[in-house]
Amino acid sequence: MPDVTGITVCITISFYEPRLSWNEEATMTFLRTTLLALSTTGLMAGAAIAGEVSAKRGAQVAVTSGCHDCHTAGYNETGGKIDPAAALKGTGLGWQGPWGTTYPSNLRLTVAEKAKTEDDFVTFAKTFQARPPMPFYNVHAMDESDVRSLYQYIVSLGEAGAPAPAFVPPGEEPKTPYIIVAPPVMPKG
Ligand code: HEC
Repeated sequence: MPDVTGITVCITISFYEPRLSWNEEATMTFLRTTLLALSTTGLMAGAAIAGEVSAKRGAQVAVTSGCHDCHTAGYNETGGKIDPAAALKGTGLGWQGPWGTTYPSNLRLTVAEKAKTEDDFVTFAKTFQARPPMPFYNVHAMDESDVRSLYQYIVSLGEAGAPAPAFVPPGEEPKTPYIIVAPPVMPKG
């Protein structure tokens, strides 16, 4: 565990620091910074690296790109906890606006039915369109390695489950709870 050793050495150095000359102090500061950087690297060993293609990186992309925000039930309410049984399965909470009422899709089904291979998913992710509030343009702009990682993560999640409720056209009343996204209110005058 080089990271733990690094932290121990830093603490030891800090203990003797008051008796050092300026030059020695500078050297010690450099050493402390370097050792801390090394220890951080060691602690970060569990994180995926940008550019790598893996389910682990896909899990990170799904979080940092905000996909769970809408596509995973309970994610926001629990402050970012991902229930493995619900991850990216879509939700029954509608988003209603002038476009009608939409439901975040079950992305496991997207992979199981519409974009079965990794290459299919890359094409799909780069070209698909969806109604609000889906920011499909963000997915178009994703790095290909991130899209491939996302595919591997979604596949790793297991059984696809049921589809999200169907789109409800404008003017029709949904049978589920829904959030109203109103058009912006313009300033008066
Ligand atoms: C603000 C909420 C929101 C966020 C954030 C969001 N989505 Fe969506 N997504 C939706 C909704 C709602 C739909 C369904 C739109 C419709 O019915 O046309 C959707 C649809 C999709 C679809 C189409 C699925 C299909 O089978 O046709 C894909 C793919 C998708 N989202 C991927 C993502 C990814 C990847 C992310 C993260 C980068 C993401 N979404 C983030 C709300 C969201």
